[in-house]
Amino acid sequence: MLLEGSPEISSQRQTAPGQVQPQAPPLLARTANGVEEWLEKISSPVLLNLCSLLLPRQKSHCARHNPMDSLQFSPVLFTLVSLFVSIIILLFPFRKKLPYPPGPKGYPIIGNMGMMDQLTHRGLARLSKQYGGLLHLQMGGLHVVAVSTPETAREVLHDIVFANRPANLAIVYLTYDRADMAFANYGPFWRQTRKICAMKLFSRKRAESWASVRDEVESTSRKVLEKTGEPVNIGELVFALTRSITYKAAFGSSSNEGQEEFMAILQEFSKLFGAFNVADFFPWLGWIHHAQDFKRRLARSRNSLDGFIDTIIDEHIITRKKTRESLDSKDENEEVDTDMVDELLAFYSEDASKNNFEESKPGTIKLSKDNIKALIMDVMFGGTETVASAIEWAIAELIKSPEDLKKVQQELVDVVGLNRKVHESDLEKLTYLKCAMKEALRLHPPIPLLLHEAAEDSVLNGYRVPARSRVMINVWAIGRDPNAWEDPDKFKPGRFLDGKAPDFKGKDFEFLAFGSGRRSCPGMQLGLYALEMAVAHLLHCFTWGLPHGMKSDELDMNDVFGLTAPRAVRLVAVPTYRLNCPF
Ligand code: HEM
Repeated sequence: MLLEGSPEISSQRQTAPGQVQPQAPPLLARTANGVEEWLEKISSPVLLNLCSLLLPRQKSHCARHNPMDSLQFSPVLFTLVSLFVSIIILLFPFRKKLPYPPGPKGYPIIGNMGMMDQLTHRGLARLSKQYGGLLHLQMGGLHVVAVSTPETAREVLHDIVFANRPANLAIVYLTYDRADMAFANYGPFWRQTRKICAMKLFSRKRAESWASVRDEVESTSRKVLEKTGEPVNIGELVFALTRSITYKAAFGSSSNEGQEEFMAILQEFSKLFGAFNVADFFPWLGWIHHAQDFKRRLARSRNSLDGFIDTIIDEHIITRKKTRESLDSKDENEEVDTDMVDELLAFYSEDASKNNFEESKPGTIKLSKDNIKALIMDVMFGGTETVASAIEWAIAELIKSPEDLKKVQQELVDVVGLNRKVHESDLEKLTYLKCAMKEALRLHPPIPLLLHEAAEDSVLNGYRVPARSRVMINVWAIGRDPNAWEDPDKFKPGRFLDGKAPDFKGKDFEFLAFGSGRRSCPGMQLGLYALEMAVAHLLHCFTWGLPHGMKSDELDMNDVFGLTAPRAVRLVAVPTYRLNCPF
């Protein structure tokens, strides 16, 4: 809903939405009341003067004038009076402003910057307990609104006004000025790139991505086999697994060549995305030394990425040309293996710019090299840490809950048997495993805070949300809301055996692991496939014990906050081979 009224004047918070008419803040009240009083004082004489000037015959007070006389009002007078009143309304919008959502009181200028460390899923959940499910913080010049209830999450995720993404200076620079999908604001460019990605990169039809999941999961299981009987760092293992899956799906390289270099670039990007930069909160401080240093660091990182991906794109362009020539002389229907760069290059044009397509004409979008680079980064960021963190949490929760682990492994014996490995077709029948994956995603959503931005001044639950506010949906808190979930902090996969339990497909706002609505995760199917395949393989081929006699209830289940929320302490466990057949 759009907010009617003027630009910001001041802020004063009110605690109970909808109960009382919001109190105007003192300055606002002063301004509005002042204008109203002034208008009251001046309106009668001014109107009287206008009446007497323009209707010299009507000498008496307009209000006391015979009603029949009003019929003699000249059109000129009527127009002038209307004009005058309109100007007054436009110049002095004395409609009272709504308050911001409740939140801790801040200091002048810096607002709540002292609470910067609270901008995590846990910190915001704590503050929401104190101030309510819709919370407001003022970080310098930036308004932050945190949502921690399913009902308000529904309002935000269904409203087109909140379909933009916030982006700090680092993100804007490193995504080539939002030339990607994940950070593009809602609009025609985003819609078209999302269509391309959904059809060409993440679709089930793109068999190569699914094949790269299978190959890499098998190769990871083989690595574990070599380490049976000794502690294996499952966290590092699964991060290496998902990095390889996305790297190969993106670049199609059959070897690991270049992977280390690329991952180092990504790590630096990741640090820069989350780094504190004063200019993000006070744009007028952008000139200071720290901000300049930061800009140099950004430039260095983007140059490294350019150097790396430009070479890959150029190689692909040459290979595509050669393949097309050889296909011309051979069978047209011959299948050619493609990776994501190939798929995106089909839309490549040297003269592409962000807005050079007509939405009404499908297929008119052209991608520049910057678009291709930025979209590949989306895949790498969207598909690596998220899936790895989900796999590690799922295995950790199952090890911590031996009863549930037993049920999952028994189901694997019943459905697959110990004489072979898991196949893709088995997954549909592994009901308890799927429930356990859902439960792990509920307790540990890989993206615990959804980041959205208000495109315009708007109203949420009766409170004011100014344009460009950062609106964060606390998926982690919502997944543990005691009003929505029984025993919210307990790992109980059985809750999902009930067909009525909320699902994460986007319709139930109690469970938002993949988001919902326009900006929901386009890689959900691929991500779930990788998660289920990896966990099924690792639990079917091996039994896992904790090292050094550690008991399952001693397992540290803390998380850290970054782009995702992985385990604070890597999961380490000792595998024993479980199958009756050679691997
Ligand atoms: C377990 C795995 C995954 C989880 C839990 C997950 C979760 C999410 C969430 C919560 C969002 C944001 C939704 C919002 O802001 O409302 C998102 C967006 C996104 N995800 Fe995923 N994701 C996963 C896997 C993947 C994979 C495998 C890919 C790509 C290969 C991917 C690519 C993306 C992209 C590009 C976006 C941005 C979409 C947009 O802004 O329009 N994700 N994901």
